Amino acid sequence: MKRMNQRLTTKLKKRGPKMVEQRETWASRMGFILAGAGSAIGLGNIWRFPTVGMLGVLTGWGISSFYSVVAGWTLGYIFRTASGFFSGMKPEQISGAFETFVANPTSAIGLHLIFMGITMAILFGGVKRGIEKWSKILMPMMLTILVLLVVRSLTLPGAGEGLAFLFQPDWGALTGRSVIAAVGQAFFSLSLGMGTMIVYGSYLSKKENLVTSASWVASLDTVIAMMAGLAIFPALFSFGLEPTMGAGLIFVVLPNIFNEMFLGTLFGTGFFLLLGIAAVTSLISIVEVPAAFFIDEFKWTRKKAVTVAGIGAFAAGIPAALSLGAVDWLSNLVSIEGRNYGFLDFMNLLFGQYSLMIGSLGVAIFAGWKWGAKRIVGEITSGFESFKYGNVYAFFIRFVAPAALGTLLVYLLFNPNAFA
Ligand code: PFF
Repeated sequence: MKRMNQRLTTKLKKRGPKMVEQRETWASRMGFILAGAGSAIGLGNIWRFPTVGMLGVLTGWGISSFYSVVAGWTLGYIFRTASGFFSGMKPEQISGAFETFVANPTSAIGLHLIFMGITMAILFGGVKRGIEKWSKILMPMMLTILVLLVVRSLTLPGAGEGLAFLFQPDWGALTGRSVIAAVGQAFFSLSLGMGTMIVYGSYLSKKENLVTSASWVASLDTVIAMMAGLAIFPALFSFGLEPTMGAGLIFVVLPNIFNEMFLGTLFGTGFFLLLGIAAVTSLISIVEVPAAFFIDEFKWTRKKAVTVAGIGAFAAGIPAALSLGAVDWLSNLVSIEGRNYGFLDFMNLLFGQYSLMIGSLGVAIFAGWKWGAKRIVGEITSGFESFKYGNVYAFFIRFVAPAALGTLLVYLLFNPNAFA
């Protein structure tokens, strides 16, 4: 252990003291936990309810492009709900309004631009005065809104049916395919596989207890996903609506509920605000990956790095913004085994699923074999003297994780729609 630390210090010294001093850090552990949870808790918790280095940069670029487009819709829906746009509309009209909204190139690109602009503005502030400061403001705000929504939903008549739907296991639905979909969801939801958590973790001080901090982030992500379920499903059943998934649930079914509900305008606006907050604290973590890469590798200033990463992601998002009806060929980009993928869906499949799995396999192999499980356990114990599970961890990272991820990737080769 001592030798290892010595080796590490020599290595750092060789790189020069300037390099060590320049790396930004969090001001507090709470800052990391909130920012980490902010990254994990995002559209994935609700919308999809149910190798270090270049690949991470590419994946970050790919995900941020379409993520910002969907996040932009939430901005539009904050204003639509607040202004009473949906009031008095029939369900078919609400559904039609969503289709017209996403197919409108001006609002789709405009809202994507605004959302990316907000993200870049936060990232210009850096780790402490940007990401951390805003996570500390936005995460408690999000939690407060969510608690209010859960209370509202659970106190509606007939809420129990929704609870049963959420918590009664349907063993029949437990198929190989649903397990694969759940694994995909878990990686996306926990922000794993593209280096986000590695970058955020790199801003922690050496003394930090990695196990506790990481457990906090994962637990918060899970608790919030469950609370989101509690906010949505009891209300859904109370109004006799069918549970659906994805964009249809968020942007079509829920506005119907808020239309019927007492104080619906208020709760509806709160819901879309919550979704927008969840999305921005995630998007900052995604764009930070390429930005951190530019800062570290090319020695760019933060301003330049964030500008290039943000504009790059914005540009890549333009075809995604135009792929929901605005431009025909983008809306019907490829057909994979009979399923139609528009540009946004395709980017989601490619970067939001495949890349994350490949990245995670790369990380497991790098961590377990190249960097070495022993060194990682050393890193963990540097802030946590009594880590008892070093051997178990080493076994998992070296054998179990690569085998499981390898099998999953082979399965995906033969079943490309498994995540769809
Ligand atoms: N975890 C975020 C969500 O659930 O919406 C999305 C995400 C963030 C995915 C960061 C990947 C990532 F690296």
